[in-house]
Amino acid sequence: MARPSKTPKNIILIGFMGSGKSSIARELSHTLGYPAVDTDGLIVERAGRPIREIFEQEGEDTFRDLESTTLRKLEESRPSRHIIATGGGVIGRPENCSILRRLGFVVWLVVSAEEIIKRTSKSRERPLLNNNDQRGTIDRLLLERHDLYRNTAHQAIETDGLTFPEITAGILESARYFFAG
Ligand code: S3P
Repeated sequence: MARPSKTPKNIILIGFMGSGKSSIARELSHTLGYPAVDTDGLIVERAGRPIREIFEQEGEDTFRDLESTTLRKLEESRPSRHIIATGGGVIGRPENCSILRRLGFVVWLVVSAEEIIKRTSKSRERPLLNNNDQRGTIDRLLLERHDLYRNTAHQAIETDGLTFPEITAGILESARYFFAG
């Protein structure tokens, strides 16, 4: 897992909806004192409306274009010592995956379908899960995305049964190793 020279010292979190990216980003930010950035948050800022509305009014393709533009701009701003949380579908475009790997140490928070259901079923803010077959949608997307997450991440962390501080400690240990390489 050697680090290509000059990779900035950011930690990037990828993973399915409900995998805990935002919560872990907050923990890492708190522990390291690095600012946390959330690509979904940047998209909402740029668009001036919630993700649910972007999907409803303009569709998923427009959202994906905004997501790619946001990532490009984030890379242009040359962040260093940041924690970057991403939307679950960011790995759908190869150019996004290349940017993520150039930005720093990419960690995949692996989570089971059962845990995802528990964490996402009450929210209506995730347009891809706003249907009456949430479990079927989750299973299909997990299958479609599995290799994309795996190939983009420098490190995968199984999160089921672990507390956020335990996951954070694991990430910090791997990051130290990665950045020392
Ligand atoms: C999406 C995940 C969401 C958000 C959008 C699409 C996806 O982010 O980007 O609703 O395709 O998995 P979270 O993973 O933070 O829920």
